[in-house]
Amino acid sequence: MPNHEIIAAARPNAEWWRTAVIYQIYPRSFADGNGDGIGDLPGVTSRLESLADLGIDAIWFSPFFKSPQKDAGYDISDYKQIDPLFGTNEDLEELLAKAKSLGIRIIVDIVPNHTSDQHAWFQAALAAAPGSAERDMYMFREGKGENGELPPNNWQSIFGGPAWSRVTTADGTPGQWYLHMFDSSQPDLNWENPKVADEFDEVLRFWLRKGVDGFRVDVAHGMVKRAGLPDATIYDENLRERSIEGMTMAEAEEAVPYWGQSGVHDAIRRFRRVLDEFDDRAFCAEASMSPLPRLAMWVRPDEYHQSFNFDYMHCAYEPAALKKIITDSIVEYGKVGASSTWVLSNHDGIRHATRLGIAPENTPRPGDGIHPTDPMPDEALGLRRARAATAFMLGLPGSSYLYQGEELGLPEAWQLEGKYRQDPTYARTNGERVGRDGCRVPLPWEADATASNGFNTTGESWLPQPANYRVFARNLQTGVPGSTLELYKRLLKERKAFGLGAGEFRWAEEYQDKNTLAYINNGVLVICNFGPDAVVLPAGELLVSTQHDVELTREIEHDQTVWIKL
Ligand code: GLC
Ligand code: CA
Repeated sequence: MPNHEIIAAARPNAEWWRTAVIYQIYPRSFADGNGDGIGDLPGVTSRLESLADLGIDAIWFSPFFKSPQKDAGYDISDYKQIDPLFGTNEDLEELLAKAKSLGIRIIVDIVPNHTSDQHAWFQAALAAAPGSAERDMYMFREGKGENGELPPNNWQSIFGGPAWSRVTTADGTPGQWYLHMFDSSQPDLNWENPKVADEFDEVLRFWLRKGVDGFRVDVAHGMVKRAGLPDATIYDENLRERSIEGMTMAEAEEAVPYWGQSGVHDAIRRFRRVLDEFDDRAFCAEASMSPLPRLAMWVRPDEYHQSFNFDYMHCAYEPAALKKIITDSIVEYGKVGASSTWVLSNHDGIRHATRLGIAPENTPRPGDGIHPTDPMPDEALGLRRARAATAFMLGLPGSSYLYQGEELGLPEAWQLEGKYRQDPTYARTNGERVGRDGCRVPLPWEADATASNGFNTTGESWLPQPANYRVFARNLQTGVPGSTLELYKRLLKERKAFGLGAGEFRWAEEYQDKNTLAYINNGVLVICNFGPDAVVLPAGELLVSTQHDVELTREIEHDQTVWIKL
């Protein structure tokens, strides 16, 4: 790429979601209003000012709908009800009204790939006969083998073990099998059945009428399966999926017949038509698709507005790799008129303050968590790098997703004992994969206020906070120069002031050497030093630094990012 080439033009008056900083709330773990140890909506409402103060534009809520909570709410038994665990309709009304008054938009999570096995549709399907309309809402099939004793194909659940479970009929004999790409309590819906699409149109309208500003769509890459449900062809000896790298799109669709099928786009367009019945709403896909040109198909003008950028999240902390993925993201999304998104942490992965302190060769696979026998992360280095990585991300054009607690620099709670672990992955693999609970531990608000550091007033906590969470409590960071919280606030403030979300972007090779990466967005120079040796701080007004001694030394040290107004 030649010097000075502008790869994103400024976009004045961009729609809000193109530039928004969206904060993910994992309701179980944000704040607990009634003290039962599980976060809830009144808890969120009571803490909303702190998010306004942080400077975010919108909140995305992981599901708070009616659910047996087998997969922490991603197993929904009624899409139009709030689970009593999280509160009531009135609690939500109150939350929405307060968010509105603070200028914060609200995005909710929609889970169309599967329901809970307790959903009325699935209960009716179990009670009905094979071949019935009720069973056709889901993916029921006869088993293979002489007496149907073998699963219909070789697909494996993402949480471990087979993706099929066999039902028992009323007379006690084994019956058909049903597909569940996740836990056996999460049967996959049949999106070839128009009745399923009809039902979801109404679910979307229901929440849009309540005034939510948009949806995050769960497992958007999985809704439609390949016709005939053929075997997957790319498992390794442990029946874990191998990479589709280097395959054409057609080959990838064949190799992984349950993800990324082209048939899904009709379902997406239908979703989008419903969303467009309402003004100014946003649609974000959790589409685990790679590489970027393939993912860009999910965000064509009549499909989703945006999609999570998992290639960026999983990218090595290394200048050349990051430069490539950032350029590709802006260019590939740009080709279809979409803006890029950026993300470093969420409720399914290891918090980046810890992940970046793990050597690349020791990094667990996504969704696996840190196992007690894994090498210990370097937490000081991880936090330093996390601050540098976040500052580098928040200067980029496009929207950024933050995960609750990262603004505190919160590490992964990788020490959690097995007895506390609730992620279905843990049980389904007999603890071989510890799963995702380590990033889901409740937040510390006030150090020592209670045993849960102010998560509630009782000290109860559905997952116990490790001892080191105390020092990350919000009250110990508020107003404290150099704290991670104040760093985030400063970044978000300057990002807004300079319009970086929709700015004119180019790489600044004139400020780079082999260990640094630099870009200019709307006249703000952002440099990260990935190497061991300090580099000279360029001239200009220093806006932000991830290490606060930079003014004195006039040097950017290792794993440090600075923003400079040229
Ligand atoms: C998505 C969610 C994850 C959940 C899975 C099944 O990947 O982010 O938390 O377990 O879907 O719904
Ligand atoms: Ca509660």
